[in-house]
Amino acid sequence: IPVDPFDLVIFGATGDLARRKILPALFRRFCAGQMEGGSRVIGAARSDLDRAAFHEVVRSAIAEFVTDGRNDPATTEAFLETVDYVTLDARGDTGWDALAARIDPDRVRAFYFSVGPSLFGDLALRLHRHGMAAGKARIVVEKPFGRDLATAQALNATLAQHFREDQIYRIDHYLGKETVQNLMAIRFGNMLFEPLWNSQYVDHIQFTVAETVGVAGREEYYDRAGALRDMVQNHMMQLLCLIAMEPPAKFEPSAVRDEKLKVIRALDPVKPQDIVRGQYLPDDDKPGYLEHVGDPTSTTESFVALRAHVSNWRWAGTPFYLRTGKRLKARTSEIAVVFKDAPHSIFGAEAGRHRNILTIVLQPNEGIELGVTIKEPGPGGMRLIDVPLDMSFAEALGPESGMVADAYERLIMDVVRGNQTLFMRGDEVEAAWAWTDPIIAGWEERGEAPLPYDSGSSGPVEALALMHKDGRRWREIR
Ligand code: BG6
Repeated sequence: IPVDPFDLVIFGATGDLARRKILPALFRRFCAGQMEGGSRVIGAARSDLDRAAFHEVVRSAIAEFVTDGRNDPATTEAFLETVDYVTLDARGDTGWDALAARIDPDRVRAFYFSVGPSLFGDLALRLHRHGMAAGKARIVVEKPFGRDLATAQALNATLAQHFREDQIYRIDHYLGKETVQNLMAIRFGNMLFEPLWNSQYVDHIQFTVAETVGVAGREEYYDRAGALRDMVQNHMMQLLCLIAMEPPAKFEPSAVRDEKLKVIRALDPVKPQDIVRGQYLPDDDKPGYLEHVGDPTSTTESFVALRAHVSNWRWAGTPFYLRTGKRLKARTSEIAVVFKDAPHSIFGAEAGRHRNILTIVLQPNEGIELGVTIKEPGPGGMRLIDVPLDMSFAEALGPESGMVADAYERLIMDVVRGNQTLFMRGDEVEAAWAWTDPIIAGWEERGEAPLPYDSGSSGPVEALALMHKDGRRWREIR
């Protein structure tokens, strides 16, 4: 879909996120022809660079992080024609007039705050003061959006002094993932699933986001956050919302976000016995969590598993199990909707227990799998087996199908188009903190330390018990 010419300013343009995600995403959109008609990217940061020196930063980011072969030198140089740089002080007035002079006041202008949240207020204020906040201005803010309800409310209030809610795009990159969006297409575009999508037919739902990496390189941030703040309050909460929400009347921002908010508000408080936190141990050649953060007394969790309940008519009695962690045995993200047993087996007890499971795989191979029960082929009588009806997007639609597009590409283009559907509204973020805050407060009050788990495992054994005690089990992390 074509977009009108735009100006996109990246604050923190020399930082890690800009190099790894934002600049490569813009480059790929450039390759796709979405930066025609004079769209511009303006890097802004404190470093005193000239345009040529910033181009060097962009060149190296493209060389390193665009890995699909599109980064040939001629295309990179053509992209650089659109890229400019301004040295700027977020906390002072240096550079702001120069930035304002480079921006076309009639165009869509997006300001990407790829900086720590402590600078959000300063940036918002100066954009306003230098006349860049009005009209078609939009700001994009990254997580962490606060570290609890109070700080999130303060951030929302600060931004609201200078920008309307419809100008604020709070990014959660999970919402830009192809399969996550497909979740809505599957639920609301098919007749097949929605009638079964409730506690009468769904036994439970499992959400797993397992990573093999540790926290090396981001120790400082991570040790102050932990898995609950880093992954559950935002990404996993968003997945849960999309799975649990009622059908919005339209696929448009306020309708979708209203429904998500209702889910968050319907979540019961998590009981202490329904949550397990862990911390990875060293293995043969790699340090453990405590060595990584250099603090033997750290009680930050690198793993969390919990049982949640959405208390409403649709979901009463269907538990939602969530788990996420670092240094686990494989990198997998999936949501498994496990349906109940058929009410009566006409095949007798020996046929065993068979369940339909709809698995939505976010990573590594995006796709959807539906486990169905069939007769085992052959003359051996009526023996039942489970087989997958499997759809890998890349296989079904081809690698060029756009499935490989990065979440950031999609989300940045949504900002330019002015579509907030896949961004979090201020009240959603606050409601999510209101749910996580008491969990963290409980850990602190009880002085609870995380349980150790082996690197390369599925997390602490106690996390397995969380489901076993309900007569259920986690799916294999593979
Ligand atoms: C980030 C978290 O938001 O998401 C990281 O801060 C995590 O800790 C990452 O590794 C996971 O994203 P993805 O897209 O690789 O699953």
